[in-house]
Amino acid sequence: MNIPEIKKQFIDIYGGNESAIRLFTSPGRVNLIGEHVDYCGGPVFPAALTMKTTIAARKRSDNIIRLKATDLDIMVETNTSGMEKLKGQLKWGDYQIGVAVELSKAGYDICGCDLLYDDTTPHGGGLSSSAAIEISTALMFATFSNEKNGISSPVDMIEMAKLGQAAEHNFIGVNCGIMDQFASAMGKANHAIYLDCATLDYEHIPLNLGRYCLVLSNTNKKHSLGSSKYNERRMECEEGLNALKTVMPGITQLADVSVLDFEKNKAVIKNEVVRKRIRHVVYECDRVHKSVDALKSGDLITFGRLMNESHTSLQFDYEVSCDELDCLASEALKIDGVLGSRMTGAGFGGCTVSIVDKSSVDTFKEILGKIYADKFGYEASFYVSEIGDGGKEVK
Ligand code: GLA
Repeated sequence: MNIPEIKKQFIDIYGGNESAIRLFTSPGRVNLIGEHVDYCGGPVFPAALTMKTTIAARKRSDNIIRLKATDLDIMVETNTSGMEKLKGQLKWGDYQIGVAVELSKAGYDICGCDLLYDDTTPHGGGLSSSAAIEISTALMFATFSNEKNGISSPVDMIEMAKLGQAAEHNFIGVNCGIMDQFASAMGKANHAIYLDCATLDYEHIPLNLGRYCLVLSNTNKKHSLGSSKYNERRMECEEGLNALKTVMPGITQLADVSVLDFEKNKAVIKNEVVRKRIRHVVYECDRVHKSVDALKSGDLITFGRLMNESHTSLQFDYEVSCDELDCLASEALKIDGVLGSRMTGAGFGGCTVSIVDKSSVDTFKEILGKIYADKFGYEASFYVSEIGDGGKEVK
């Protein structure tokens, strides 16, 4: 929906007029490379999309919060003191309430408000529609809290990213890393973010793709991050780290282990599956550094090759891909003008990201779309992705 439509729907639902409606927005993200390494203290390389969540919000004079989405019939109503009780109870609205709970714990004054959410990031597409909701919500509540308390400094977006992640851990039950929330909070148009997930040091790197563009191919297979697989991988990483620590006592996280260290010491990881998981993490961290160097020097061929290696590693070593993603990634590479293709996000469904010559985009969609529909019996969707800004109030 566009902004006038969102405002109109807001007034239809909650009454009143446009004057006190505020708009907050935050994007989904694509991760270019550095998959399943954020929770190991590794480097990642995501970029914010222009697909986003927009919230139309109006403060209330009491402590009631009402939430509604433009495309859902449900309305959630709570008061600011009853939010924690909603954990595990909501069909929709848990990201919003989870964030409000975390902000409240961090000392923010959560005020009553009427809210209407509009999402353009596809749900379950691995493009962090949930982080888009979390960061826009966090920014909105923090802005209102600061206004109430006479604080004029801008909202600390890195703190919002951390609180969004805390909501995932404590309210949703997914033990995710910081990448998605950070990218949604700190994105910059036409730039990717080179982020060290251990220190949160980051650098915006211009995404100069020349005659190429990024195409997202959505399997339209719903993935469920909450499924135990994600948390299982985290435990396997913990097990591998503990094994390596017996011979490398100085390490605190897997990102501290170089490729050479791993190859020298891998035999201490007795469990073969866990060894594969760790191999993925160690080599993927290495690929991120190489990718950033390649992009900085305009070497898209190398960047594309590293993306392909990343997919293979996620497919066979980390085992978070699926037939649908593998089909999209491998068939993409057979098309002229494609430099690289890999799954992006948590996996088990969702999207691939490919680097495609702009003049080949139509052929890409046509060929890949047909192969996919023939094989799986339903359609994939394609988006040429533009890289947008992080969370902000729209004035
Ligand atoms: C999900 C999580 C992120 C990250 C990715 C995999 O998107 O939210 O923290 O772990 O999966 O790279």
